[in-house]
Amino acid sequence: MKTILVTGCSSGIGYYCAKELQKSGYQVFATTRNDTDVTRLQKEGLNAYRLDLSDSKSIDDALKWALKQTNGKLDALFNNGAYGQPGAVEDLSRDVLRQQFETNLFGTHELTSKSIRIMRNQGHGRIIQNSSVLGLITLKYRGAYNASKFALEGLTDTLRQELHGSNIFVSLIEPGPIESLFRQNAHKAFKQNITIEGSAHQQVYEAVERRLAKQQTERKQDPFTLGPEAVLKPLIHALESQKPKARYYVTFPTWLFAALKRILPNIVLDWILMKVSDDENK
Ligand SMILES: NC(=O)c1ccc[n+]([C@@H]2O[C@H](COP(=O)([O-])OP(=O)(O)OC[C@H]3O[C@@H](n4cnc5c(N)ncnc54)[C@H](OP(=O)(O)O)[C@@H]3O)[C@@H](O)[C@H]2O)c1
Repeated sequence: MKTILVTGCSSGIGYYCAKELQKSGYQVFATTRNDTDVTRLQKEGLNAYRLDLSDSKSIDDALKWALKQTNGKLDALFNNGAYGQPGAVEDLSRDVLRQQFETNLFGTHELTSKSIRIMRNQGHGRIIQNSSVLGLITLKYRGAYNASKFALEGLTDTLRQELHGSNIFVSLIEPGPIESLFRQNAHKAFKQNITIEGSAHQQVYEAVERRLAKQQTERKQDPFTLGPEAVLKPLIHALESQKPKARYYVTFPTWLFAALKRILPNIVLDWILMKVSDDENK
């Protein structure tokens, strides 16, 4: 039985993939940062434990808990837990940007480094990073999230070269829009951390507020948004293939923007991306 630790299993992609991997025979360590979610997942039959990526002790405790059940082995790690901090770049305080990086990059990095030690000892391993199309291209008001995912891409590309020949493989999954609680959680982070009044972007923020609030009650009929099952397929390929890919694109927008980035000059790509954000924020 293959073992895998998954972060961010309370909802969305992590929740779906943890359940499906368990069903297909993996020994899944489903982690989530809130105790109430741990209890809920345990009741649903998942082997769950608390792991908060912004807390080193919690990372150590969760790893210890998992390794105790496997005699110190861990075949795979799915770095999935993350959140989006919306807000114009000039309105991001140092603390807010740091929080974004604490979860999306530093915690993920710490868990990865500690897992690599285990994988090097056992002589094999798979690490799968759930990045984003926003790790490839940028959108207005997504600067903090963009920066965290671009940093994850950079660290992962370097790591892949450093792990070459070690029998430890690292892959990036690049989802576009996926149905999950991501937008609701981003809305919470926006309300908590961004001061609307007095910002040069106040009018846009008010429109964003209205849009995000609306999305909580209405499921947007967006033909490009896929269910979390769209991530499971590349995840399984990255876990099981003899030759896992460096990058897996998921959803049409990811394929499209990755291609446009390669062929268009910056000025044209910026124009398209600004139009996409403006349309979204109307
Ligand atoms: N949905 C999309 O459109 C989309 C597109 C591209 C990439 N992604 C990526 O997909 C991954 C999963 O997101 P999702 O779409 O499934 O959204 P989601 O439903 O909001 O799930 C995100 C998960 O990350 C967890 N998380 C947040 N902060 C954490 C922390 N400090 N420590 C540990 N876990 C933490 C959340 O836990 P709480 O419930 O406790 O907040 C939740 O379990 C993320 O890496 C995201 O960047 C999503």
